[in-house]
Amino acid sequence: MTSPAMDISLEIKDLSVTYASRGGEEARAVKNCSFTVSRGDVVGLVGESGSGKSSILMAIPKLLPHGTTVTGQIFCDSFEISALGEREMNTWRWRRIALVPQGAMNSFTPHLTIERHITEVLEYHLKMTKNEGVSKAAELIKSVGLDDDVSRRYPHELSGGQKQRAALAVALACEPDFLLADEPTTALDVITQKEVLEKITSVVRERGMGLLLVTHDLPLAAGVCDSLMVMKDGEITDRGSSRELTENPKTPYTKLLIDAIRNMEVRP
Ligand SMILES: Nc1ncnc2c1ncn2[C@@H]1O[C@H](COP(=O)(O)OP(=O)(O)OP(=O)(O)O)[C@@H](O)[C@H]1O
Ligand SMILES: [Mg+2]
Repeated sequence: MTSPAMDISLEIKDLSVTYASRGGEEARAVKNCSFTVSRGDVVGLVGESGSGKSSILMAIPKLLPHGTTVTGQIFCDSFEISALGEREMNTWRWRRIALVPQGAMNSFTPHLTIERHITEVLEYHLKMTKNEGVSKAAELIKSVGLDDDVSRRYPHELSGGQKQRAALAVALACEPDFLLADEPTTALDVITQKEVLEKITSVVRERGMGLLLVTHDLPLAAGVCDSLMVMKDGEITDRGSSRELTENPKTPYTKLLIDAIRNMEVRP
């Protein structure tokens, strides 16, 4: 196993993802992407629909469908997790690297309370007792800005914004070092989007975690991320600090993404 550098980061090197297709022609969704997310970093990954954002996020904890070809290397704290088998990888998921998948707010189990969603993770991954789990769940629910009574509610009894915060609480349960969040605010109104994103970024900053945040909304990401990467057709076409990228976009595509959202915002 190779160890390129002894820093505390999630390092993606030359990652490519190719889906097996039914028709015979393979679909290369991610093409030779390399980047690093250090602990304490809030990094945004932006790009239009189909550009490969979720494919990158799902490739990191090895959650892509069977039959998908993934090449390149992924290091977590200089340890090559891309070389791990499924069983070993399972010990890294949730505990070291947690994922809030796209559409997480709609994938809660309807007959389980929010508290139970969290305690299940704690009991399974950290072998906590029921009582320990309940008290940790209460702490997590509070930390994401939800009222205590949310713990005993069922998913359908929460608003979209509350569900997103609850999904965040579940992802934070095992105190991971890195959080991967895929479009965590897309289905929400503009004000709630901002509130939820600010909550996510403030929690990860307080805990000194690294965050890779996927969104198609470049200006929104720029408001909360330290740096941004722009994806198009499976490649990272632009990257830089949020300020640099929005004030001085290097490619016409980055400019188009900024203008597209701004134009939508000024419409009556
Ligand atoms: N399971 C799959 N099988 C085959 N092709 C897939 C699969 N999942 C994604 N793709 C293809 O890979 C490409 C990248 O998809 P991906 O979901 O990573 O995009 P995205 O940037 O997350 O898009 P969105 O913003 O709509 O969520 C697309 O062309 C998509 O059709
Ligand atoms: Mg996606």
